[in-house]
Amino acid sequence: MKTSKEIRCSLCGEPAVTRITYAKLWLCKKHFIEFIEKRVLETLNRYKLAGRGQRILAAVSGGKDSITMLYLLHKASMEMGFKVIALHIDLGIGIYSKISRETVEHFCQSLGIPLITLDLKTLIGYSLPELVHKMRRPPCSICGLIKRYLMNVVAQEIKADAVALGHHLDDLMPYIFKNFILQNLFEISKLGPKTESENGLVGRIRPLYEVSEHEIALYAKLSNLPFVYEECPYAGKKKLDKQVKEFLNSLEGLHPGIKISFARAVARNIHVYKALSTTKPLKKCTVCGAPSSDDMCSFCKLTNRVAGKPLGAEVRLKIRDVLSSLGLLE
Ligand code: AMP
Ligand code: FES
Ligand code: ZN
Ligand code: ZN
Repeated sequence: MKTSKEIRCSLCGEPAVTRITYAKLWLCKKHFIEFIEKRVLETLNRYKLAGRGQRILAAVSGGKDSITMLYLLHKASMEMGFKVIALHIDLGIGIYSKISRETVEHFCQSLGIPLITLDLKTLIGYSLPELVHKMRRPPCSICGLIKRYLMNVVAQEIKADAVALGHHLDDLMPYIFKNFILQNLFEISKLGPKTESENGLVGRIRPLYEVSEHEIALYAKLSNLPFVYEECPYAGKKKLDKQVKEFLNSLEGLHPGIKISFARAVARNIHVYKALSTTKPLKKCTVCGAPSSDDMCSFCKLTNRVAGKPLGAEVRLKIRDVLSSLGLLE
């Protein structure tokens, strides 16, 4: 058995910082960083996530995953010739949101990445905790709805080719597996490396599709990336989600590389899952024009309930003001 002193990088002989079991490699700091950066470049190319001349809107919460995603995307953009613009949504969740916002602002400033910050309270008059109190609905469902809506408005207004999210291998594979168990097969089509733009919904890309949680944590640490350690106070994993994740990790221990093989197989079959859609084609919200399955979109319905009128159209104008002041409107 090797002692930690003897463990050397398989590529250069320097002391190793980690083992990549599925690649049968021990890597030093330099080669691990290169390994992850190459993996993300390959992901961007393999799945055609971004290309020369494109505008990518990177959604950044301030947590480890999306900060790492932004950093890696920014690095790749210089090599591949696309532009990255960051978006942070301040949900007004007390100190958690304050620290998150500051972290994203400092990080973007240090890298010279243009940043759009939207403040929920300024946009609709309510913070997320105030909405949760009024609506009596699970915080994450309100939060998800609002974030999706705002990301799409910004992406449309700045004519972004895609919105980049920080989801990684260990977020996506357990969720896909769970949806398979429950036979929510169409849901799986939304969880691949790329969702195409259609019906007024700007497409999504996931540059960390093939990067594990452990690899992200180590990359962020070795690259000294600043991120918020605290989790959102509303966060809470359901038991089944946690168990499916543990199951896939134990399988990975027995069959190194199986999670990435799974991810690649799903990506190849996304069109099969997509074809299983039973939802009707989207219409346009009569208030704000956003894509919607009903006459009124869920954002307008939500704001109608809390503020007494649907705010979609007003919010879009406020967002246009923010973008215009940043020189980001076409
Ligand atoms: P979640 O909905 O928390 O699973 O986050 C999924 C992805 O949405 C993250 O990886 C980020 O890319 C993005 N995201 C989450 N929260 C925010 C936020 N407050 N502002 C901007 N983007 C966010
Ligand atoms: Fe959305 Fe916590 S960030 S509920
Ligand atoms: Zn090395
Ligand atoms: Zn609407």
